Amino acid sequence: MISASDISAGLSNIQSTDNLTDLDALRVFWLGKNGLITKEFKQMSTLSKEQKADLAKVLNDFKSKILDAIAAQKNTLLDRAIDQELSKTKDVSLPSRRMHVGRIHPITQVINKLYHFFELRGFTSYSHDHNFELESEDNNFTFLNIPENHPARSMQDTFFIKDKVLRTHVSASQPRILKSIEPPIKAVVFGRVYRSDQPDATHVPVFHQMECLYVDDQCSFSHLKDTIDAFITYIFGKKMKIRYRSSYFPFTVPSVEIDVWLPQEKKWLEILGAGMVHPEVLRNAGHDPEKLRGFAFGVGIERLAMIYFGLSDVRQLYGADLDLLAGCNLWQ
Ligand code: PHE
Repeated sequence: MISASDISAGLSNIQSTDNLTDLDALRVFWLGKNGLITKEFKQMSTLSKEQKADLAKVLNDFKSKILDAIAAQKNTLLDRAIDQELSKTKDVSLPSRRMHVGRIHPITQVINKLYHFFELRGFTSYSHDHNFELESEDNNFTFLNIPENHPARSMQDTFFIKDKVLRTHVSASQPRILKSIEPPIKAVVFGRVYRSDQPDATHVPVFHQMECLYVDDQCSFSHLKDTIDAFITYIFGKKMKIRYRSSYFPFTVPSVEIDVWLPQEKKWLEILGAGMVHPEVLRNAGHDPEKLRGFAFGVGIERLAMIYFGLSDVRQLYGADLDLLAGCNLWQ
C-alpha cells in the first residue's frame, strides 16, 4: 500500500529531475501500465464496496498530485532548455537596439490634416481625377483668363514639355472641375506644381499646393474669409495672426494674398492666394456668371509645414535629416 510519505518522496524526486527522459521514467514508475498507482487500482477488485471507495479517493488524490508535479517539472525543464539554447547564441539581457519606425512625411501630414478639415466641411477631394501635373496651356493659363503675353507663360517661369506645361499651380484643375461637375461645387485638389525658380530658403522648383474651389448661386467674399480663417486655425491648433493683402490674379476678382505672422522671425510669410472666381473663368467653362459665383484659393503646403514645424528653410523638408523629419508630428 502506498503511503502519503511515499508520495511526498516521489514528488520531490520528480522536482529534482534534470531531464525529460528521467521525468518520463518517473511517470511510468508511478502511472505506467505496471506503475505503482496503477497496480493498486488493479488490486482493488478484492475489496469491499466501501473500502474501494475510500481507497479510490486516496489513489486519485495521489495520481493527480503526481500528474501535476510532472506537468510543472516538464515546463520548468523546457524553459530551462530554451534559456540554455538562447544563452549559447544570444545574450537576451543586452539592451535592445532601437527599432526604426517610419513616420508620415511632414508634407503628407499637412495634406492629410487639410483633407480632414475640408472633408468635414462637405468638400470633395478631386485629387484622383481632374488633377494632372502635365497640363494643357489652356487649363493652366487660357481658361483661367491668363492672357497670351502674361509673364508667367514665359520660358523662365514655366517648364514646357512639347505642347504641354508642367502646371504652375493647381488652379489648372479649376477649368476641368467647372466643366465636369454640376454646381454647387465644393472641391479641393492636392498636388505638385512646378516653377522654374532658383531654390532658396522659401522656394523650390517643385512644391505642393491645395486648391479649393467653391461655386454656388449664393457665395460671397465672407464665405471665402470664413473658410480660410477656420482652416488656418484648425491646422495650427490656435488662432494665428494673419493679414489679408490686396493682390492680383487674372482668374479672381477681387484677389487677396494671405500672410501669417512669424513672431520669432518677426516677419510675414505668404501662405496662399485667393479671391472670387473671375466671371471670365466661369464663362470659359460654359457657366453664366450672372447666375453663379465662386471663391477659390491656392495654399502652399510647404509654407504651412515650415510655419508649423518651425523650419527656417523649405529645403529641410526635402533633405535626409531623418531626426528632423521624425520630429515633425502635426497630430500630437
Ligand atoms: N494659383 C495661385 C498661385 O499659385 C493661387 C490662387 C488660387 C489664387 C486660387 C487665387 C485663387 O499663386
